[in-house]
Amino acid sequence: MNKGKFITIDGVEGAGKSTQIELICSYLHRKGIEVVRTREPGGTDIGEKIRSVLLDVDNKEMHSDTELLLMFSSRNELIQNKIIPALNDGKWVVSDRFTDASFAYQGGGRMLSLDRIAKLENWVLGSFKPDLTFLLDISVEIGMTRVEARNAKDRIEQEERAFFERVRSVFIERSKIYPDRIKLINAERSVDEIQTQIQSIIELL
Ligand code: TMP
Repeated sequence: MNKGKFITIDGVEGAGKSTQIELICSYLHRKGIEVVRTREPGGTDIGEKIRSVLLDVDNKEMHSDTELLLMFSSRNELIQNKIIPALNDGKWVVSDRFTDASFAYQGGGRMLSLDRIAKLENWVLGSFKPDLTFLLDISVEIGMTRVEARNAKDRIEQEERAFFERVRSVFIERSKIYPDRIKLINAERSVDEIQTQIQSIIELL
């Protein structure tokens, strides 16, 4: 049996990831592909508990290194217990966020050393990485306006605008360093236009 493919979607808050992921999954289903949809942090029982700790607004005092380590703890659960078994079964996995978010949020936003994050990535993932990553790029202003129209903000969403500008810059930098894997998508267009571009890229996988 062929191994499945691993696709991740990332970007600043309010970029429209959920809508695009929904459409990607239906598109793959229509092609007869079995898809496992997941998210980070979270996606497993333990990972979802870690997610609650990470996003709880009462945990304002959390040290940035603790935040980074919890992201990778949740990720390890997800990779070992969900992603790798699914890929080995020939299923495709679509994840709402993955390791690029740790570089962008903890490296960019929190200004932790990118080299240290890369060491952690190597420790937890080895050479494992997504086959394809869509970076939905949108201005921080538009993204935050959307977030503000939704529910109460979580601990990370409460950060100031400069934090998200740094997050966005690291995402964009990474898409330039890894152009074969990370596809920068202008997400300030209609849902249909964005999805059409995404599907045409998946076709090439
Ligand atoms: P979500 O809003 O896309 O559900 O993601 C939850 C938050 O977690 C979001 O603010 C981005 C943040 N995050 C990190 O800071 N580092 C990471 O490695 C991941 C996966 C998410």
